[in-house]
Amino acid sequence: MSEVLLEVKNLETCFDTDAGRAQVLDKVSFKIKKGTTVGIVGESGCGKSVTSLSVMRLLPKPAGHITGGEVLYKGKDITKIPAKEMRKIRGNKIAMIFQEPMTALNPLHRVGKQLGEVLELHHPEMSVNERFKICVDMIRSVGIPEPERRMVEFPHQLSGGIRQRVMIAMALLCKPDILIADEPTTALDVTIQAQILKLMKNMQLDLGMAIMFITHDLGVIAELCDEVVVMYAGRVVERGPVREIFKNPKHAYTKGLLSSIPRLETESKTKLEIIEGMVPSIFDFPVGCRFANRCPYAEDKCRAERPELVQVGSEHFSSCIKHSIL
Ligand SMILES: Nc1ncnc2c1ncn2[C@@H]1O[C@H](COP(=O)(O)OP(=O)(O)OP(=O)(O)O)[C@@H](O)[C@H]1O
Ligand SMILES: [Mg+2]
Repeated sequence: MSEVLLEVKNLETCFDTDAGRAQVLDKVSFKIKKGTTVGIVGESGCGKSVTSLSVMRLLPKPAGHITGGEVLYKGKDITKIPAKEMRKIRGNKIAMIFQEPMTALNPLHRVGKQLGEVLELHHPEMSVNERFKICVDMIRSVGIPEPERRMVEFPHQLSGGIRQRVMIAMALLCKPDILIADEPTTALDVTIQAQILKLMKNMQLDLGMAIMFITHDLGVIAELCDEVVVMYAGRVVERGPVREIFKNPKHAYTKGLLSSIPRLETESKTKLEIIEGMVPSIFDFPVGCRFANRCPYAEDKCRAERPELVQVGSEHFSSCIKHSIL
């Protein structure tokens, strides 16, 4: 069995807002093993980006706080280590491709300087020439033409797609142990998307990199991931091996998500099944299952108490108390 590189354990994250404190993550737990890809999926606002920002310790300050749980990198809780130690890990051992590229790029500096600085910080032993060559090679490998020219440009001179790929190059530069990719290719056209996913897969095969892949696209999950974590309203509702979850979903929400995937064989005029209703507000989460108000199977017990994640198969966990009928 391969080594667990990252374990998120009962993670709780809150935001202080004008309307009071909102608990956005509620006991989020999952593990990522070396050389594997774990997909995180769930509707907008369920906490996917907040989970990744919590792992990176990059929550917006002063509003965001981790208020409970642990994030274990190779067994060590990185939520408690000094900021200085975290800076050695971030961008080097654990790197992230952000949903919004300008979060990672500084508008005031040329692309080459920004990439070079990442290498300089984590590999001071390298010469300037060595660093330059690694940066150019990496820019080329994410499919950007004329890499030398891009090195002297500023982020605002780049198109959205190129900017996104520069950020991907920056994340891969130090060959991280863990890559967190938050909707990394959504803005890119399909050919480039396929090229980037292939690059990430190749790096994974070469280096045993673990990938946490956040996406709305269940098709990408099916193709790319070994395991999947399904989140709903700040909680993990189901997790397990991808094949198992696609074949045999045990949470009513996962079942709903899977039936909303467009299938080739579906006639174009057939209405796709979508999950009706709204996700509850972060200020007004119900005590019981947070999906109960939209769930066709819900009964009184679902609304009355917090459902715990229970094992329903080999490495397969679900928090739906109706799992036996699904
Ligand atoms: N800075 C913030 N202050 C207050 N609440 C926030 C802040 N950032 C995020 N949230 C809230 O945290 C919850 C989770 O947000 P998050 O961005 O993690 O969702 P997501 O799953 O990444 O969604 P998407 O698929 O749209 O990217 C949302 O309810 C959001 O409103
Ligand atoms: Mg997000």
